[in-house]
Amino acid sequence: MTLTDSTIADPAALLRWYVDAGVDETMGEVPVDRFAGPAQPPAIMTPSAGFVAASPPAVPVILPTAPAAPSVGSGATAAHLAAAAMTVDELRAAVESYDGCGLKQFASRTVFADGNPNARLMLVGEAPGEEEDRRGLPFVGVSGKLLDRMLAAIGHDRTTAYITNVMFWRPPGNRKPTAEEVSLCLPFVERHIALVDPDVLLFVGGLAASTLLANPQGITRLRGRWFEFANPGLARPVPAMATFHPAYLLRTPPQKRLAWRDLLEVKKKLKSAASV
Ligand code: URA
Repeated sequence: MTLTDSTIADPAALLRWYVDAGVDETMGEVPVDRFAGPAQPPAIMTPSAGFVAASPPAVPVILPTAPAAPSVGSGATAAHLAAAAMTVDELRAAVESYDGCGLKQFASRTVFADGNPNARLMLVGEAPGEEEDRRGLPFVGVSGKLLDRMLAAIGHDRTTAYITNVMFWRPPGNRKPTAEEVSLCLPFVERHIALVDPDVLLFVGGLAASTLLANPQGITRLRGRWFEFANPGLARPVPAMATFHPAYLLRTPPQKRLAWRDLLEVKKKLKSAASV
């Protein structure tokens, strides 16, 4: 989608171009040239060793995110800020202070987490939508209501589960976050999991699953299987399952049957983890 001189010269065409690019709100009276600002911190991809041979199911190993030295003028990198956070509250403050992800410029609020940070069950979704952006809480829109019902079906709610996302800011127009945006937030998400240190992780939707399992397969292949999520901040790997995103289930109700199966697995795993 190239921005041509003739598009720029035609206000209606220019507006259409912005809408096609996912812009759904105006944020200021004058445009901001972000290319003229200080350099953004470099994207940090979490390297993955892929899958370690193990008796099935396969065990993904997530290696440490190498903290790059902060570059001059860019402020601290996400990796450094995340590593310095020793509590969930400190991590929240670090995320709120972080300006390295461009999505923050377009969002009304930082959406960090909801629920009980001492819970044994931690859910990681994708990115805030419109309602989440307005309220500053994850999963409080239509799909959040279904997620609450899914949790209730296995005897949980936000007092016994902890909910976050791989992205802390709403992408404009609910577009898919770019790989760079995801990797910029990843050190915070990994630290978040290490600080909460749950007994069981549930990745909600394909983006959370493929990002945190460092596995490019789609959600249809990743869901319903147990993985072990490891990171250097965790004393031991955490059993992790992926399931369909409630927004997808709202569009495709027959798949609720499979999501129900996944939730029963989670319930079973929580029970067995409690007995050891
Ligand atoms: N979808 C998500 O993945 N997360 C939210 O917080 C809301 C909708």
